[in-house]
Amino acid sequence: MPAPNDVRINPSILAADFVNMAASLARIPGADFVHVDVMDNHFVPNLTFGPQMVEGVQSTSPVPLDVHLMIDDPDRWAPGYAELGAASVTFHLEAAKDPIALARRLRDIGARAGVAVKPHTPVDSLFEHLDEFDQILVMTVEPGFGGQSFMPETMPKLSALAVEARRRGSEVWLQVDGGISESTIAHAAEAGADTFVAGSAVFGSDDPDAAIASLRALATEHSHRHSR
Ligand code: DX5
Ligand code: ZN
Repeated sequence: MPAPNDVRINPSILAADFVNMAASLARIPGADFVHVDVMDNHFVPNLTFGPQMVEGVQSTSPVPLDVHLMIDDPDRWAPGYAELGAASVTFHLEAAKDPIALARRLRDIGARAGVAVKPHTPVDSLFEHLDEFDQILVMTVEPGFGGQSFMPETMPKLSALAVEARRRGSEVWLQVDGGISESTIAHAAEAGADTFVAGSAVFGSDDPDAAIASLRALATEHSHRHSR
């Protein structure tokens, strides 16, 4: 279990070679988690993996899974990903009927429970409930596709969450996802993120594990959550 002041770099396999997944996974031994984007063509206009594929990734991956569910009705479907053994399961606040009950269920099964918000979704309703979650994901692009540009206007939400977490003594991880690269990661770290998803910046590199190392160095240098 990493200390709360650690930063985590989670490569997104959305940018990996889908038909050579084992080879792609073998290129990221320095990752903390592998980020798996599940999309259903309803919550977002794109379709990726279901539970069988996620299970296959898990059996091959050198690191634990960080599953990001961009799906409708996570109340029904998210527990299945925890049951197959994903270390972390994150569902969208906009899609969940009862986010707290769902987070409790995910924890009961043994996963870390995460909740995600799209760029324009407020986070204030989460302040009272930080302890119900292990991770809050502030999307830094509109979910659905890799390779989009980082949206700096999402940073005030992250700062507000970091302030609330510190004030309440919460050790919830604050994750960012979308457009994270060597040119944007410092901004997100300064705003309070400690857990960083990167797709194209890792798998678009000739040396994905070296890309992870340089993202980690930048995030560590600019992180100030160690003061918590
Ligand atoms: C987008 C996904 C992201 C995506 C990020 O909806 O949730 O995880 O893979 O890709 P990059 O890092 O290329 O923006
Ligand atoms: Zn994602």
